[in-house]
Amino acid sequence: MKDLREDIDSILPSLIELRHELHAHPELGYQEHETARRLLDRLEKLPGVVIRTGVAETGIVATLGTDKSGPCIALRADMDALPIQEETGRHYASQNAGCMHACGHDGHMTCLIGAATVLAGRADELKGPVKFIFQPAEEGGAGGKRMYQEGALKDPPVDAIFALHAWPTLEAGTLAIRPGPIMAHVTDFEITVHGAGTHAAMPHRGIDTILVASHVVVALQSIAARNTDPTDSAVVTVGTFNAGTATNIIPPVARLRGTIRALTNKTKVATKERLRQIAEQTAAAYRGRAEVEFIPLYPGLSNDPAAAGFVAEVAYDVLGAQAVIADEPPTLGGEDFAFYARSIPAAFWWLGVRPKGAETYPGLHQPTFDFNDDVIALGVRLHCEMALRFAASWGK
Ligand code: NI
Repeated sequence: MKDLREDIDSILPSLIELRHELHAHPELGYQEHETARRLLDRLEKLPGVVIRTGVAETGIVATLGTDKSGPCIALRADMDALPIQEETGRHYASQNAGCMHACGHDGHMTCLIGAATVLAGRADELKGPVKFIFQPAEEGGAGGKRMYQEGALKDPPVDAIFALHAWPTLEAGTLAIRPGPIMAHVTDFEITVHGAGTHAAMPHRGIDTILVASHVVVALQSIAARNTDPTDSAVVTVGTFNAGTATNIIPPVARLRGTIRALTNKTKVATKERLRQIAEQTAAAYRGRAEVEFIPLYPGLSNDPAAAGFVAEVAYDVLGAQAVIADEPPTLGGEDFAFYARSIPAAFWWLGVRPKGAETYPGLHQPTFDFNDDVIALGVRLHCEMALRFAASWGK
């Protein structure tokens, strides 16, 4: 049988071209129309692929091997870009002002198109269907939730789903994964602090809202430090603090907005409870009043142990043990792949993009970040190996 690497090498220049096109034309969540068209141009040329478009507005579900009776594997890529002004200086840099692929989603889509292309030419080797899921709005728009609600995991029903994410701290050629919690529960909050406005020179006639809100900000940091089990993880970050209009006025209202992150639901619930108590009672101690509102964003992402084990096993085989980290620590970032993972077995894995020999690489969501073309072939290969081996391994 022909080596997968030959198949991949033959389409690599065209994949790099696609990646650069996607990178040059980034689109924000639910606006990925041009992106979807570029993906469809490629998918429609593949034999045996059944395509559903317009899922969650701009999403695409492409299925190969609908006639196969074995277990169905799904591979997912996210499509949206971020509201960031690009500073990479690349010749294919974003042509859309204030919008860029700073999270590697251009690379994720490219790897998945590569896998669909290679596997369409090897459909006779597949025992079960393979679903390629391109989803919009990962960056805060919960596109994964809508894809799920609109049946992306049905017809045929998916047995397990997998996704890769570019990871800048990992060296190119390596893969990292872990079983269990890998990314955080995310809940945003808004605290409105009410004091009493007054002249800046006569603070005793009012209640200094800025002072009250400042005490709230400081006290909130005791949640992670003093209320959370030191072996567990929680983050409380106040990201915005808005109050006041002039140097000589004490304003009546201050608004704090921020985010809570936790790796378990129990810790998330406990952190929310403490946040409310601390905000309300700290404000009261200074004669102010705090109103707290929570905005639930993404559930925690936990890797199914069997699915994570399958990824590690395939990676050991393809890359060798030295290039696989099977117990990577979790991060407190959020990821809407969690909406699939809470319904069916799922595993999310990180693909190293830091160039070999480089000590550092720009981080995700930075204006200088760019997915690394040198790892496209490996991403494609890992997707393909997982799809080709899934039927034989799954449920064993
Ligand atoms: Ni991302």
